[in-house]
Amino acid sequence: MQQASTMKSPPGTTMVAALVHVLVAFSAASSAAAAATAGEQPLSKIGIHRTTFEIHPGASVDVSPLLLGLQGQDQEWVTIGYSNPRPSKDDWIGVFSPANFSDSICPAENQWVAPPLLCTAPIKFQYANYTSTDYVKTGQGSLRLQLINQRSDFSFALFSGGLSNPKLIARSDSTTFVNPKAPVYPRLAQGKSWNEMTVTWTSGYSTKEATAFVEWGVQGQIQILSPAVTLTFSRNTMCGPPARTVGWRDPGFIHTGFFKDLWPNLKYTYRIGHRLFNGQIVWGHQYSFKASPYPGEDSLQRVVIFGDLGKAEIDGSNEYNDFERGSINTTYQLVKDLKNIDMVMHIGDICYANGYLSQWDQFTAQVEPIASTVPYMVASGNHERDWPGSGSFYGNIDSGGECGVPAQNMFYVPAENREQFWYSTDYGMFRFCVANTELDWRPGTEQYKFIEHCFSSVDRQKQPWLIFLAHRVLGYSSATFYGEEGTTEEPMGRESLQSLWQKYRVDIAMYGHVHGYERTCPVYENVCVTKASDKYSGVFTATTHVVVGGGGASLAEYTAGPRARWSHAQDLDYGFAKLTAFNHSTLLMEYKRSRDGSVHDSFTISRDYRDILACGVDNCPSTTMAS
Ligand SMILES: [Fe+2]
Repeated sequence: MQQASTMKSPPGTTMVAALVHVLVAFSAASSAAAAATAGEQPLSKIGIHRTTFEIHPGASVDVSPLLLGLQGQDQEWVTIGYSNPRPSKDDWIGVFSPANFSDSICPAENQWVAPPLLCTAPIKFQYANYTSTDYVKTGQGSLRLQLINQRSDFSFALFSGGLSNPKLIARSDSTTFVNPKAPVYPRLAQGKSWNEMTVTWTSGYSTKEATAFVEWGVQGQIQILSPAVTLTFSRNTMCGPPARTVGWRDPGFIHTGFFKDLWPNLKYTYRIGHRLFNGQIVWGHQYSFKASPYPGEDSLQRVVIFGDLGKAEIDGSNEYNDFERGSINTTYQLVKDLKNIDMVMHIGDICYANGYLSQWDQFTAQVEPIASTVPYMVASGNHERDWPGSGSFYGNIDSGGECGVPAQNMFYVPAENREQFWYSTDYGMFRFCVANTELDWRPGTEQYKFIEHCFSSVDRQKQPWLIFLAHRVLGYSSATFYGEEGTTEEPMGRESLQSLWQKYRVDIAMYGHVHGYERTCPVYENVCVTKASDKYSGVFTATTHVVVGGGGASLAEYTAGPRARWSHAQDLDYGFAKLTAFNHSTLLMEYKRSRDGSVHDSFTISRDYRDILACGVDNCPSTTMAS
């Protein structure tokens, strides 16, 4: 028996429409979410390996419908009905995929040799009384949950004992998408040259059963077929738990197609597909994108930049301390303004899967409307990369054992070596130099050489706007967690790189990691070289540093007390930056709040080429006396 759900979103609701629904609810609550919380993955609260089996004949879980995606959807809502003769307020429903989550699927090397024997975490969870407020009285409840197509079937289980000591009471039949292997969630990225775009997607088709390809061409003209490459990774490439244990989930196959020799600014359409060896073709949906401008081209160019987005479930599941609810608003604002965005740079802390690999699929589904339409460029953060003894510069456990593997497979970046994850990319009048703060950047390292080469090899007459991007703050931040260490940045960051920023006249350096917004004056060696302003013009004096890590994960705190002289603007809210190059002499930086898209801080830089050439502090060699 099921009760009416109070969730309003109908089955088949699209992501965008559903985001609107949640946005309204979340705006009112977002100030409450400002309380700082440690970025713990909600799934890590579940002691799944402590589960005991206490199947109760009077308890039940039902799901409907049993077949999903009948109209070709990749996401669909299901209704879960359940009953429990001995209900309790901490009973919960876990969603498992594959549907068979019994001990029979545990690997031989399962570290929990004695019962209880469950060895896989649910892909999401929700409390049994979430929408059925009288569940504890009646023992009856229902939930509406959204599922995305992620290569396998699903089942639902009712647990008592709370999250920490789960007792499995009942489980449902399985439900599945019509084609669980379907190609899904394409994400575009700039290729290694200005006239190349790439598309990466996920499917259940290996190279042993199908050939992956893209069908693409100028919109309205003949479409051509190009092969795509296929990659995957295994449990053995994870560095530790939970990625290697309860958080592991088969990633399927990750394909990348290359669109080459693109004509600048033309609109292209594309479709991802797989040709099975029996001749049948399985198609994804059709999408389109605009090819990038030629480097140096004078046209309107707009790039959105943020860090630390994360993901959230629009059905309200997986919540713990408002972990990443902010990501829903940010995603919604970007989707809403997509026609005014040419490229997105997500500078690290991508989805905070933290070793629960199912979350990567859910993240790529959340950003699909953006990433399938404009290049979605990522950088490496601590939550993607850090793991003790794995070569990361920081020896902490923030990646949950992933040690960078899912990030470097799930998203393409135009790096010489995707494992290193540093790269440069040009977009018209912009040059972006993207560092990887999770690997050593200090003078003498390979990364330091890359950063200097990226800065020095750009022709500023053609590409005047030189932007440095990195996940952790290598410049300036008033975050409490730096303040408590007596610093305003990652140790050895600014000290190592400020001479490069100054010498090569880097306009703006942007960072994530600190969940909020902060902008400095043009600053060099801790001193404002120019007074902070909303309008700069003329000769380059020093780099402006911007922290824009308020994409969606729970907000940070700023040091109380007097502000540093270099700290010009702060905002402790969710938001993102947008850079607009109007032409070779005018750049606009806007910081927008995710709750309503309003501009909360901005500045312009106006100058001519000769202003970049002109000498300032520490950025010109002395001239010769010879004539
Ligand atoms: Fe971070």
